[in-house]
Amino acid sequence: MNKIWVPKEQCDVANSLEETGQVLRPGMVLLKNYIPISEQVNIVKKCRELGLGPSGFYRPGYKDGAKLRLFMMCLGLDWDPQTRAYAQIRPHDNVVPPDIPSHFSSVVARSLEDSHRLIKKVMDVTDADDMLPKMSPDLCIVNFYTTNGRLGLHQDRDETDDSLRKGLPVVSMSIGDSAEFLYGNQRDVEKADSLMLESGDVLIFGAESRHIFHGVTNIFPRTAPHGLLEKTGLLPGRLNLTFRKY
Ligand code: SIN
Ligand code: MN
Repeated sequence: MNKIWVPKEQCDVANSLEETGQVLRPGMVLLKNYIPISEQVNIVKKCRELGLGPSGFYRPGYKDGAKLRLFMMCLGLDWDPQTRAYAQIRPHDNVVPPDIPSHFSSVVARSLEDSHRLIKKVMDVTDADDMLPKMSPDLCIVNFYTTNGRLGLHQDRDETDDSLRKGLPVVSMSIGDSAEFLYGNQRDVEKADSLMLESGDVLIFGAESRHIFHGVTNIFPRTAPHGLLEKTGLLPGRLNLTFRKY
């Protein structure tokens, strides 16, 4: 396994895009320490408010009855891990997912614009859209992993044919404790690359990376930023939000 772990200290001191951002492979961009703590706090508070509401967090299961090792809620559209289908209504309790809050979408828009600037700079291309198409999300899957949470290698391939064919990117935000994130061309942990995703990181995968296998192997306890914990009382664990276009 190839570990691509970018030390956080490096990112705290040098905040320019070239230093915080990396193009990991065509269509796959990592923006380290990208979301300011104040915005992370707002996201946690909103997720808590929505997560404790009627269409909030639940522990989903697969078709075979096994439970996922995380808690989930959806915004914009519901995604059902049992059928892998999207719908306006969550089938097990008939609730309607709330809209994506506009301050979440703003972070998505900004991170895609910055990724385009980065791609133009480091890859020397004029049209960054070819390497990473623009995307305006209409759904978000919010996962909360406790410190023994994890998610096996999988592809995100339940969006529409049009969305997948265009390679519209998934934008993933991590908040709270750090996680080891694996990604690769096959469902094979041994052949996967490994990344540390820390609080405030944004990972984007679209275009030719849209179908990468990815998953979470470990959550590292007590790694969340103190400032975030002080202002939110976030429980031990990790919040991950993946924004997509259906
Ligand atoms: C996902 O693949 O749906 C979530 C990935 C993550 O938690 O980083
Ligand atoms: Mn996924």
